[in-house]
Amino acid sequence: MAEDRYKQQFAEAVAEAFRTLYPEAYAETGDREVFSRETVYRALETPRDPRRGRFSLPVFRHVKLLRDKPPEIAAKVAEETNRRLSMQAGAGLLSCRAAGGYLNAVIDPAALARETISRILTEESRYGSADIGRGKTILVEYSSPNIAKPFGVGHLRTTIIGHSLRRVFKKLGYDVVGINYPGDWGTQFGKMIVAFRKWGGPETLRGNAVKNLLELYVRYHREAEKDPALDDEARAAFRQLEAGDPETVRLWETFKEVSHAEFDRIYAALGVEFDLVIGESFFNDKMDAVIERLQRDGLTKVSQGALIVELNEPNLPPALLRKQDGATLYITRDLAGMIYRWEKYRFHESLYVVGAAQADHFRQCLAVIRLMEEAEGLPEEERMAHRIKHVPFGWVRFEGKSMSTRQGNIVLLEDVITEAAARAAERVKQKNPDLPDLEQVAHLIGVGALIFSQLSVRRTKDVNFVWDEVLNFEGETGPYLQYTHARLCSLLRNAGRPVTPDVDYERLSGEEEQRVVEALADFPQAVLDAARQYDPYHIAAFLLRLTAAFNRVYQRKDAAGRIDKILSDDAELTAARLALVKAVQIVLKEGLWLLGLNAPEKM
Ligand code: ARG
Repeated sequence: MAEDRYKQQFAEAVAEAFRTLYPEAYAETGDREVFSRETVYRALETPRDPRRGRFSLPVFRHVKLLRDKPPEIAAKVAEETNRRLSMQAGAGLLSCRAAGGYLNAVIDPAALARETISRILTEESRYGSADIGRGKTILVEYSSPNIAKPFGVGHLRTTIIGHSLRRVFKKLGYDVVGINYPGDWGTQFGKMIVAFRKWGGPETLRGNAVKNLLELYVRYHREAEKDPALDDEARAAFRQLEAGDPETVRLWETFKEVSHAEFDRIYAALGVEFDLVIGESFFNDKMDAVIERLQRDGLTKVSQGALIVELNEPNLPPALLRKQDGATLYITRDLAGMIYRWEKYRFHESLYVVGAAQADHFRQCLAVIRLMEEAEGLPEEERMAHRIKHVPFGWVRFEGKSMSTRQGNIVLLEDVITEAAARAAERVKQKNPDLPDLEQVAHLIGVGALIFSQLSVRRTKDVNFVWDEVLNFEGETGPYLQYTHARLCSLLRNAGRPVTPDVDYERLSGEEEQRVVEALADFPQAVLDAARQYDPYHIAAFLLRLTAAFNRVYQRKDAAGRIDKILSDDAELTAARLALVKAVQIVLKEGLWLLGLNAPEKM
């Protein structure tokens, strides 16, 4: 990162200045405090007001140590820092300004513009990439919907966050395995089978099969309240399934087929991909080994006929591995899955993008794995517990309502996608009725609106999905970013000449342009933040900031109130501005792609 070099250079010069000016304090503390480049580097902050500088060091924390007043410390150190910087290569590009108790780093705007923009124009979509992940495998599990249940908006957020993280980690050089772990096993299939045998038939599997199956499931729960014998039947049916009874297995496979057909349609519409699809049932024949291993480790106990592992953590109920009737559970399969993933991939990290409601489930899984690794006395490099992370996210409310499958008041994702595309088509028709490929573009915008709505709030916060908000072309939405991108593309087409990085960057030193350049320089950091915090939100927020900064250039008026156009008679100025426009277009497109949105060139 060009910028990071400035940061390092600044930190070094400031630390040297401190050492020169305060030799006694340096003798007292050695390389701690402000006397080493690393400590200064780590203490650098980003000023709230960008006009103060690119980064800044508060000195008032060191008053006691230096026995001096903050403004005096800042003034002296700034002077000494500048003396040092002026003797170095690239003198004048970086300088230090004292302001109150702060030392602010000022980067020459034209220099920052030159480095940032020429870099973007050469690296194009690779800008912001890094190789911090080289040689490391990261698993990202996302989506994982349940078979024979409709794909509701409830599963939208995991799908979108996980898919974006897959792209973010790839950009940083990791080997990423995107995993879908559909819920295709469990006692609920006993209920489904009973319901189907009683009230279903071939017609259930025609048309919208998953919706029909849901109706049977809802009916089952209604009737089971009146007739508890149904639950016994369901348990028996599940046992038949576990025992491999052919007719029961065939029925279960049919449920899987119709469900996967629907899931695949949805993933295709959203543009979501996986590297591996491996359902819960894959672990059927792998659970005995896990249970035996835990027994050998002396961790299991029989409690009221069930097999459990007691966990030594506050407020964490024991992990139930096997019920009294012998049936295994969701957690048993997850434990088998964790061990399987570790043995297969020796991952650097294994992420589970699953709603916050399952936090305790993952705490239980990890507690069991930890106990197991301790009991076996595994060496550090054989342990995985600290590498497994639950990545939770908040609830999604749809137009103010929450949903539940049991009662059947679920909002189907497929319907939402169709409606989003239809609503987007309306708007595009108003703006640009002659657009070729209008339907395809509208689909990309509708889906873009959906995706962005899930990522534009921090992962841990709830999302309230409101149609008029997510599709607003002027709001902080996906369509707004896509629309800005299309406008940039049209500007570049209209320029009618190639964009080159060989321009006079002094022409971009205006206040508004500086803010755009600084935003562009921040993109690599936004990608890193998204990866470190497992939250694509950082990229979404970055794109909104970049776009807002750019629109201030784009809509700027001159003294007479006329728009200060990008394309003007001043050839040099136009060339410099086009380089800026192209850089914004590249970064906007790449940022949207990382989130999972396509950026059409015309809309
Ligand atoms: N199928 C589950 C559900 O829809 C989510 C699975 C989450 N992943 C896992 N490894 N447990 O609630």
